[in-house]
Amino acid sequence: MNGSTERLAADAEGLARAAALLGRGALVAFPTETVYGLGADARDGQAVAEIYAAKGRPSFNPLIVHLADADAARKLVHWSDSAEVLAAAFWPGPLTLVLPLRAGHGLSTLVTAGLDTVALRVPEHPTARALLDRFGGPLAAPSANPSGRISPTSAEHVAAGLDGRIAAILDDGPCTVGLESTIVDLSGDAPLLLRAGGLPREPLEAALGEPLRDVPPPTAQAKVTAPGQLQSHYAPRAPVRLNVTTPRPDEVLLGFGEMRCTENLSPSGDLTEAAARLFDLLHRLDATGQPIAVAAVPETGLGQAINDRLRRAAAPRP
Ligand code: TXA
Ligand code: MG
Repeated sequence: MNGSTERLAADAEGLARAAALLGRGALVAFPTETVYGLGADARDGQAVAEIYAAKGRPSFNPLIVHLADADAARKLVHWSDSAEVLAAAFWPGPLTLVLPLRAGHGLSTLVTAGLDTVALRVPEHPTARALLDRFGGPLAAPSANPSGRISPTSAEHVAAGLDGRIAAILDDGPCTVGLESTIVDLSGDAPLLLRAGGLPREPLEAALGEPLRDVPPPTAQAKVTAPGQLQSHYAPRAPVRLNVTTPRPDEVLLGFGEMRCTENLSPSGDLTEAAARLFDLLHRLDATGQPIAVAAVPETGLGQAINDRLRRAAAPRP
């Protein structure tokens, strides 16, 4: 989007307007106790793609899905005893839990970057809670700042970075925690601390009755191919070949723009649509068991993030 950004007060009228904008796929920045989030309907792939466009994010990292309560979480993921313990103790609050997705969860594949797990959080901020109630659905929300800039802890910070690029900012003053949520991955054998944040590790370990494991430092090779997030990214099983004009007879072709192909990211050449469909189509092509050829995607706007992801999918496997 390119236009003027509405500044909304955190009252009934502002909340109604914010929920209505989110309902039609627009982006609304809203306060949480940690930092301001850039919210979009987590079920709407186009809206989620707009988040990456607005932030100018050069790669697709999975996003945190914000929910009104733990019941909403139980419907989306396979719940566990540890999840119950941590949710009971720390939700609502600055804690994000990564859990395995249930079938039929309804979230866009761009939110999870094609993974079979999702990061969930129930924020404590009264305005965030009121917005989630009013909207009545899951909100994907990374911090509301342009990629590579510092996280916003006031509506002014958000406006300084994103004015004109998002539909609205719901203004409710400064954030109290000011540091992103702590992320704990409960999808594996033992609880893993993925990101230190607003909730310290000691009370988490006390509640769990066991120490949190730490993420092993990335290997030299991981550093080169995928800074930070290598293990958590979906990679097709089949080999992937990029910038293909003519596929080999055994390959399926992922197209872009008008062309003959097995699946098309966007027949009209729209990068937002392509981003929204990317992981879904990669999964679908991977299910054929054939090698995947991919047509060229322009390196402009969201094309950067799309190509980053495609290059990772095509990189030699460790
Ligand atoms: O405090 C916060 O958490 C803020 C406010 C707005 O709620 N949100 C936030 O969201 O920081 P975001 O999307 O920027 O953080 C996403 C983090 C990334 O480090 C990402 O790698 C991790 O969560 N993440 C998301 N889904 C994941 C998954 N399925 N597995 C592992 N990590 C995941
Ligand atoms: Mg951030």
